[in-house]
Amino acid sequence: MSTHKLPAIVLALGLGSGAAFAAGPNLGTPIEPGEIAPWDISIQPDGTGLPMGGGTPAQGARIFAQKCALCHGENGKGGPFAALVGGAPLASGIDTPKTRQQPRSLTDNEVYALTAYILAENKLIGENDSMNPETLPKVRMPNRDGFIIRFPDKI
Ligand code: HEC
Repeated sequence: MSTHKLPAIVLALGLGSGAAFAAGPNLGTPIEPGEIAPWDISIQPDGTGLPMGGGTPAQGARIFAQKCALCHGENGKGGPFAALVGGAPLASGIDTPKTRQQPRSLTDNEVYALTAYILAENKLIGENDSMNPETLPKVRMPNRDGFIIRFPDKI
């Protein structure tokens, strides 16, 4: 191929792909911010992204008895599945198997209340402490220094 034809070929390819992109494959529809919001549930370590609301250990205890005790035992002391209260600190690393159960079946307030209940039962917060977007990020978990930060420069 002679070199003087190259710019013409590049130009033709460029125009061709530009035209194809503009036309698009005609799949899907543009998504509105309001449609994205329910799926945008990431929460930062400093609490940014936590939803409004709150809950106390007493409220959480009632929800726990209805929705959790069947598997985790009365007061979370262990049943057919893991004890959530009083266990030894994690020792087997992050590879412990975890199971997801009915994601999104609890309201934000129920999650705050259950979190308050389990933290209070484990004596990590007081029994009357409410968990909400301000108080939750301030809880100091006992194993907080036991994690390896994979990308320290990204914090
Ligand atoms: C149908 C049975 C079942 C129900 C109901 C259930 N869980 Fe679980 N839960 C499990 C299983 C199985 C695991 C995984 C245990 C493991 O990793 O060893 C788990 C793990 C957990 C863990 C992590 C435990 C850990 O040591 O890391 C928490 C916290 C938890 N569940 C809380 C709850 C709460 C709160 C509720 C009620 C809203 C609930 N679970 C309802 C079966 C259940």
